[in-house]
Amino acid sequence: MRIRKAVLPVAGLGTRILPATKVVPKELLPLVDKPTLQYIVEEAVEAGIEEIIFVTSHSKHAIEDHFDRFSELEQTLERKGKKKELAAVRRPQELAKFMAVRQSEPLGLGHAILCAREAVGDEPFAVLLGDEITPCLPKMLEVFEKYQTSVLALFQTPREQISSYGIASVEEKEPYIYQVKDLVEKPSIEEAPSDLAVAGRYIVTPDIFPILERTKPGRGGEIQFTDALLEQAHQGKCYGIHYTGSRLDMGTPLGLLTTSIELGLQHPEIGPALREYIKGVVQRQR
Ligand code: UTP
Repeated sequence: MRIRKAVLPVAGLGTRILPATKVVPKELLPLVDKPTLQYIVEEAVEAGIEEIIFVTSHSKHAIEDHFDRFSELEQTLERKGKKKELAAVRRPQELAKFMAVRQSEPLGLGHAILCAREAVGDEPFAVLLGDEITPCLPKMLEVFEKYQTSVLALFQTPREQISSYGIASVEEKEPYIYQVKDLVEKPSIEEAPSDLAVAGRYIVTPDIFPILERTKPGRGGEIQFTDALLEQAHQGKCYGIHYTGSRLDMGTPLGLLTTSIELGLQHPEIGPALREYIKGVVQRQR
């Protein structure tokens, strides 16, 4: 079965970047000249996703607005002959078909995904977290096609960061393709079964919904997505890819800055000037 839909949970509070995220959603903070979420939607669309389901909250109207028409602005740009700007304004709404569902309280990632149940229906879907750029869906889709189970993206994490992630215990089935045996959310270094962390990209089979429905709140009183995936893993229905490519996490002040620098350096127009600027800063600090 082809994966057509992606759920993008964006209803969290973004407490790690306060006060920047007091009224501006974390997922709309800009990286160079686009909001973070537009990079993520583009990543999904490039992998073949046609429908984007945002899980939003009452304070996050701006997210839906960014992916909708803005007639007044479009007319003004058109009248002034600003073609490049007009194309940039129109691009977000042209990327895919969008819909939004509400999560009335931030009760955890598992709960956010459960809120999208009706919109997803009875088909496998992708989940992309709104605060990281990890372009690994194409490989995950290949693994899904072969094994028809949920698929995680796993990356090797330094020991000192293990307690910030869900960590997987795995059995290698093919080079870089694993069957997931166990998952532990944010373990201590001693408890961690490996150094393979779960990235914010998932392919999920729809039997996750009844599992989520009976998943009790775990760590921090939140319904943990990891707990539901663990049940699939115990049924032999969860695989993972070992992802070694780039992963940019903008969900902390340092991550926001480093992600901006990475994307700025890759930008064809401002990259060379930014490189010179950074060289100058480094020299002045010496
Ligand atoms: P995070 O835990 O990284 O985001 O969740 P957060 O809760 O917004 O940020 P902090 O930890 O307080 O700084 C990853 C993604 O899942 C969404 C978030 O919006 C984010 O994009 N999320 C999280 C929800 O949609 N609902 C939730 O209840 C929790």
